[in-house]
Amino acid sequence: MRIGIYGGTFNPIHNTHIEIAQAAKRQFDLDIVYFLISGTPPHKDTSETVADLCRYDMVRLAIEGIDGLELDDREIYRAGKSYSYITFTELHQEHPDDELFFIMGSDSLINFKNWVKPEIISQYCNVLAAPRAGDDMDKIEQSIHECKNIFDGDFFLIDYIANDIASSSIRNKIRINPDIKNQMPEAVFNYIIEHNLYTQDSYTMEDVMRLDDEMKKELKVSRYVHTIGVAQTAYSLAIRWNYPAINAMVAGMLHDCAKCISDEKRISVCEKNNIPITDIEYKYPHLLHGKVGAYYAKEKYDIKDNQIAHAIEVHTTGCPNMSLLDKIIFVADYIEPGRDKQPRLDIIRSVAYSDLDLCVYMILEDSVNYLNSNPDMVDPTTIDTFNYYRKLLNK
Ligand SMILES: [Fe+2]
Ligand SMILES: [Fe+2]
Repeated sequence: MRIGIYGGTFNPIHNTHIEIAQAAKRQFDLDIVYFLISGTPPHKDTSETVADLCRYDMVRLAIEGIDGLELDDREIYRAGKSYSYITFTELHQEHPDDELFFIMGSDSLINFKNWVKPEIISQYCNVLAAPRAGDDMDKIEQSIHECKNIFDGDFFLIDYIANDIASSSIRNKIRINPDIKNQMPEAVFNYIIEHNLYTQDSYTMEDVMRLDDEMKKELKVSRYVHTIGVAQTAYSLAIRWNYPAINAMVAGMLHDCAKCISDEKRISVCEKNNIPITDIEYKYPHLLHGKVGAYYAKEKYDIKDNQIAHAIEVHTTGCPNMSLLDKIIFVADYIEPGRDKQPRLDIIRSVAYSDLDLCVYMILEDSVNYLNSNPDMVDPTTIDTFNYYRKLLNK
């Protein structure tokens, strides 16, 4: 077999990466190309790198259904820095009779002789370098020539000029330039938005502590204790489902921030700020604590992140097609450790960590059953959400 290994942080993966892998596969008649997702690379600033499992998910989505492209995730599980010579030593042991081809960008090739133990890497593989539009081709040819003289393995240029998109410009522009969407598979773009990656609005534990102080003052003791339970459960669920965990904690801290005010106050906040009130909300104004809570999160507690505000807004009823954070807060509110009255809580708590959509559905099913005994209290949004998730799961 002829096996390509394409190493990179893929932060995020975009169309050019896939085109390079396919070009190398065609030109060098490779049977398969593995995207090797680097863990902690020795030579790169990782401050802007999102969670390893998010990068893994994005590569998985990008290559899904493309023949001959696969994933290699060994480096993200390895302790310490990701040295390529260790990976290629392992790969050689696993494939003693196969020929290995290490695919890299032209910038990596130019630097190759400064890597840690390049002589071991080149002993086990041939190197294929992908030039980018605007590259100094003489400099690359010269590097290839030099490397061939110094090292054992062979060095080749991939006959494909990759267009000059950089992951860094995607990271910076993804929220402001809608055209970025065309530079990556749709599923990857949707994943970035859903998981709130590369956003400017990230929070720290200092923010959580600030909100903790505020909620201590704002809420009754039992509501405050519930809030802490929701924030911590949201944190765990976020870790499980690869969502920025502190952001989820912030949403959890604030989800009931408008719970301990009077009905009159909730109605007046809505009326003054043009927040629409439905008939059922007029009848049972406590239902407004989600909408008012979202308003307070932004105006009173200075939260800029729209995903957080939305999750607070819909946390009681849910809504069709909830975002990942909406689901995390909706579920955390129901399963936090202080809850003990709902039926089949142990099952629901367990499902929260294995199938989030199913968990949302089970909670809605129990809520609808409960509300059926008080039919005029049922918010139609709860029914719409229940029907949406029933259909989704039937699919
Ligand atoms: Fe609530
Ligand atoms: Fe709550």
